[in-house]
Amino acid sequence: MGAVTLSVIGAGHRGADAYGDYCLRFPDRASVVAVAEPDPVRRRQFARQHGIAAENQFTSWEELLARPRLSDGLVIATPDRLRAGPVVTGVRQGYALLVEKPFAPTEEQLDAMASAITETGAFVGVAHVLRYTKFYGAVKRLIDDGAIGRLVHIDQTEDIGYWHFAHSYVRGNWARAEDSTPMLLAKSCHDLDLLTWLIDEPAVSVSSSGSLTHFTADHAPDGAPERCTDGCPAAGTCPFYAPRLYIERLRSHDTWPVTAITSDTSPQGRLSALKTGPYGRCVYRSDNTQVDHQVVTISFGSGVLATLRVGAFTASNTRTIRVLGSHGEISGRLDTGEIEVRTFLPAPGQGVHEWSRWDRDAEGRSGLPDDATWRILAGPATDPDRDESLGHRESDGHAGGDDGLMHEFVEQLRRRQAGETAKLPTHLRDAERSHRIAFAAERSRHSGQTVELTT
Ligand SMILES: NC(=O)c1ccc[n+]([C@@H]2O[C@H](COP(=O)([O-])OP(=O)(O)OC[C@H]3O[C@@H](n4cnc5c(N)ncnc54)[C@H](O)[C@@H]3O)[C@@H](O)[C@H]2O)c1
Repeated sequence: MGAVTLSVIGAGHRGADAYGDYCLRFPDRASVVAVAEPDPVRRRQFARQHGIAAENQFTSWEELLARPRLSDGLVIATPDRLRAGPVVTGVRQGYALLVEKPFAPTEEQLDAMASAITETGAFVGVAHVLRYTKFYGAVKRLIDDGAIGRLVHIDQTEDIGYWHFAHSYVRGNWARAEDSTPMLLAKSCHDLDLLTWLIDEPAVSVSSSGSLTHFTADHAPDGAPERCTDGCPAAGTCPFYAPRLYIERLRSHDTWPVTAITSDTSPQGRLSALKTGPYGRCVYRSDNTQVDHQVVTISFGSGVLATLRVGAFTASNTRTIRVLGSHGEISGRLDTGEIEVRTFLPAPGQGVHEWSRWDRDAEGRSGLPDDATWRILAGPATDPDRDESLGHRESDGHAGGDDGLMHEFVEQLRRRQAGETAKLPTHLRDAERSHRIAFAAERSRHSGQTVELTT
């Protein structure tokens, strides 16, 4: 089977660095033949990297989709608010779609997109990349294999990290929920997707609390100016002082988040961007409206509960999980790839073991040892050469999830082209489940009431 052809709408960080980059590394699997991107620098650079013909370079999704279908697949990696237009037009044009998360910024758009996809029978994958990590794959397998008995509760945390939160949700693209999507949907629809995937039954009710508690004018240090670069007296004591984050500590980094603030990543270029652009603003004097800490509780029909905590006030940028069952518990941490399984009943040979083989044996058994306590290494997500205290895990390919998703999307598309049965692991139904929970959680957060789910 030959490589599938793709068009990319939105050649920003995700479009270029995750999906475009995959095609450059695996040209025998997929190649990009068209791009729509309004930013001329990004468009030119992307077109040059992929050798895209001049007539297939467009300044907007409308222009690209006004042409007859140009490729097998269409990758939609536009900003959060710009989804329904390209998705609905794309499926009507007969493209197979890979759509960035959040899939839909509002329930109305979700409904419109779902109708168009159902009507056309289109092949649509959603970028819930974490399902494709070895780490969550291992947790799923342990639960499904009954390693801890009957599932009772999953507690998932998303530690965004103080610097990442300030970058994206105070100063950056997602600072205002009104212009993007609520933080829970933008950041944690992955986590909601993971919870519904791991628990695998319909959720029945949702409640949530959270607020913007710290990044407000009330907490500005005395004498703090509008911008860090305007001689802030708290430069030495404020963890969010922009020149320290973007120039000193990320000195050797030439990727996101530095590339989000400027295309000239020299120290002078960065300083100049901080003096004029959004990322140099005082975090206490920005126009941000997003909550900075939030908790969600989800009840499932069988009595299983899931809790999610997400927020800014963590040193690390990672996810952790605890899965509690009738016969044991699983705990894990995504950035180190460590998973520990502790069963309540002792077993012969009890002890801590390293276990890193995931393939089932010939009889389909998972190959887990019989011991009471297992320590499992799903493969560290971090690059040991990185500055551990100020890394950027989101751009580390989501612990292998970005490549895993692209590989699956391309593989299934190739099968489909060859007339074989093809099935995407994350599709419309998954996006609907996680997104309806997020919308309900936001309603609960505002009303203070538990929200019943009907679908
Ligand atoms: N799957 C994940 O884990 C993950 C991680 C980060 C971000 N995201 C999501 O991916 C999406 C893109 O995020 P990003 O960080 O790449 O943002 P970005 O701003 O770097 O990229 C978006 C690109 O879309 C372009 N664009 C704007 N209007 C357009 C139009 N009319 N036609 C075509 N292109 C247009 C912008 O110029 C920009 O280059 C967001 O929805 C974000 O929430 C997903």
